[in-house]
Amino acid sequence: MTTLVFEGFYEPFSASAEPIDRTDALPVQDVDVPAVRLHEVGKTWRARPGQPSFSALTDVDLEVRKGSIVGVIGPSGAGKSTLVRLVNGLEKATSGRIELFGEDVTELSETGWRDVRRRIGMIFQHFNLLSSRTVFDNVALPLEIAGVDRAAIRSRVEGLLELVGLSDKAERYPAELSGGQKQRVGIARALSTEPAILLCDEATSALDPETTRSILALLKRINRELGVTILVITHEIPVIKDLCDEVAVIENGRIVESGSVFDVFTAPKHPTTARFVEDVTSVDIPSYVRDRVTAEAGPESSLLLRIRFVGEHATSPVVSRLTTTLGADVNIVAGKIEAIADRPFGTLLVAVPGSPPTGDAAIAALLTLGFRFEILGYVPAERIETECKPFGFPLVPENVHVA
Ligand SMILES: Nc1ncnc2c1ncn2[C@@H]1O[C@H](COP(=O)(O)OP(=O)(O)OP(=O)(O)O)[C@@H](O)[C@H]1O
Ligand SMILES: [Mg+2]
Repeated sequence: MTTLVFEGFYEPFSASAEPIDRTDALPVQDVDVPAVRLHEVGKTWRARPGQPSFSALTDVDLEVRKGSIVGVIGPSGAGKSTLVRLVNGLEKATSGRIELFGEDVTELSETGWRDVRRRIGMIFQHFNLLSSRTVFDNVALPLEIAGVDRAAIRSRVEGLLELVGLSDKAERYPAELSGGQKQRVGIARALSTEPAILLCDEATSALDPETTRSILALLKRINRELGVTILVITHEIPVIKDLCDEVAVIENGRIVESGSVFDVFTAPKHPTTARFVEDVTSVDIPSYVRDRVTAEAGPESSLLLRIRFVGEHATSPVVSRLTTTLGADVNIVAGKIEAIADRPFGTLLVAVPGSPPTGDAAIAALLTLGFRFEILGYVPAERIETECKPFGFPLVPENVHVA
């Protein structure tokens, strides 16, 4: 039997010549049992000559519900890859407990891990394909190692290539593929043994934003249609926003915040989380207004507000409701609506002229309407009006010819 090791992971997890039967490999079918559970997990690298010991992970608690997509995000060196290597048994925790599908794997032997790994698929940042094998043969490899017969391999690999949209590339070699296509092969290969959970360590970090989006959409489909639980490790906030249901933020080996993606993004509590989500949710005061913002109201100034509207409020006509309530116009200065975990979350910068009386009324109205908002200061009214005039495009631009 050939022994092939990709980053020490695809070891020959079965020497059997029988097709894979995972029914007995799933010890617990109870949906309430998490796919992954880390309880006060620590990992300390031992001191070496000239190097002190180093704690890569401290007291990590993490739960990945079956069928969910959970993301772990953190800066470089935070301990993300270490965490994933504990979950797939490539490293041993130095404290705490790790459970996979209800089974305590903290002290599992290497032989024991071979069984457990049948339920784990892994995809990598740099794809880890074998350059001398075609796309088909790369995807078939884990099945060959498991001793699955050729007819079953053919039908499973063809199905997987169709799933990842690469049926026409089956006989191509990795060097003939784009980065996104290589990652699709990596995903098909990871799914070949029908894992219950997919671990993704920076799976899109080597890809451009558009290819990243298509890979994230594929992973989401795999989760929703095949029911595969996914644990994603990343330093890219769009991956969390577009893919995950839940998120844990890790810094210096500790989970500093966790929760549903929507809750964490819309009300981050830890400064590190706030820095990460700022890229997605923040709306800055435009430069032409910023220099003019004052803390005190002038006689003719407008009150500048940043209004957040969440969930059911996100699509409600905030400006028209404010305008109606105040009986005065409200200027939109900047704004955006993002889909976070498939729910709308919007931020709008508005200037309410005629403050303080109208501004005070606007604040009261926002409180009554239940919007979250911040008072950013005051801006001279004429400045906002000058800058926010409509463009006044001609109805038919000069370069368009109407027949
Ligand atoms: N085998 C090892 N021996 C000693 N220290 C290690 C070892 N592996 C990792 N570390 C240290 O543990 C810390 C966490 O490393 P890890 O690879 O988990 O970070 P990461 O969050 O994945 O970073 P990146 O985003 O750059 O991949 C780092 O400071 C790293 O130097
Ligand atoms: Mg890493």
